[in-house]
Amino acid sequence: MTKEYKHHPSLENLIESEDMGLEVLHPGALEITEELAELCHIGKDTKVLDVASGTGESACFLVENFSCQVVGVDASDYMVQKAREKAKKRGLNIEFRKGDAHNLPFEDDCFDVVISECTVSLLDKEHAICEMARVTKSGGYVGIHDICWKEDTPENLKQRLEEIEDERPETLEGWKGLFEKAGLKDVMAVDKSYLIPGWGEEIKKKIGIKGELKIFLKVFRNWGISGYKSLRESEQIFKSPYMGYCIIVGRKT
Ligand SMILES: C[S@@+](CC[C@H](N)C(=O)[O-])C[C@H]1O[C@@H](n2cnc3c(N)ncnc32)[C@H](O)[C@@H]1O
Repeated sequence: MTKEYKHHPSLENLIESEDMGLEVLHPGALEITEELAELCHIGKDTKVLDVASGTGESACFLVENFSCQVVGVDASDYMVQKAREKAKKRGLNIEFRKGDAHNLPFEDDCFDVVISECTVSLLDKEHAICEMARVTKSGGYVGIHDICWKEDTPENLKQRLEEIEDERPETLEGWKGLFEKAGLKDVMAVDKSYLIPGWGEEIKKKIGIKGELKIFLKVFRNWGISGYKSLRESEQIFKSPYMGYCIIVGRKT
């Protein structure tokens, strides 16, 4: 991944670019994946596309627990390879493909459910949600979970998160609006903001002191003290009362 070598280090890119032993790259572990699956009515034989499938952990979980069929797509060669190896090790028949969420390598109307976990705020949101809707069959569901801003978030905080992490979350109503704009109906939102305060600690616990040290040294080597400062700033934004988390689901008619 080259994106991490910009003006600021991005905490997200640092965690993803090293093998830190993190398999689930979103808050709420696999419980939120299960909740999303239920809200999207995933069941036996449902054909699911996981956009930005990361390490493949959610795709494997869905196949093992819902007996559905899953295809995963991710822009990173590293993630696609890791996901393929994981599925093979677990004896699961899951196709993982390299692809861009803005231009999904699938025909229109071919999946019952299309999900994306903790990624759309990194993308051209409107475009990515329209792509998810395009490849969903009529009557199927599009579902995401992602970070969201509280309504009263100061603009400078939004700007700093975009500068440091390249993330542009919406408010909960903003996310619903984007789903409606993509033609999705019965759009519902579930506020999961209680997951955010413990997320940073959860990551630290998983990567351990060794992981933290590795990140610190890499940041120091590449960006010096200013890199370390922007990393801390990013952490503070995530810890601020303005940061929330939500699930959004809509149906294609
Ligand atoms: C925060 S991780 C989430 C991974 C996984 N969905 C999860 O929740 O564990 C973001 C993922 O998005 C992928 N990604 C970033 N930009 C993408 C794009 N334009 N198209 C597809 N995948 C993308 C990254 O490679 C990474 O695997």
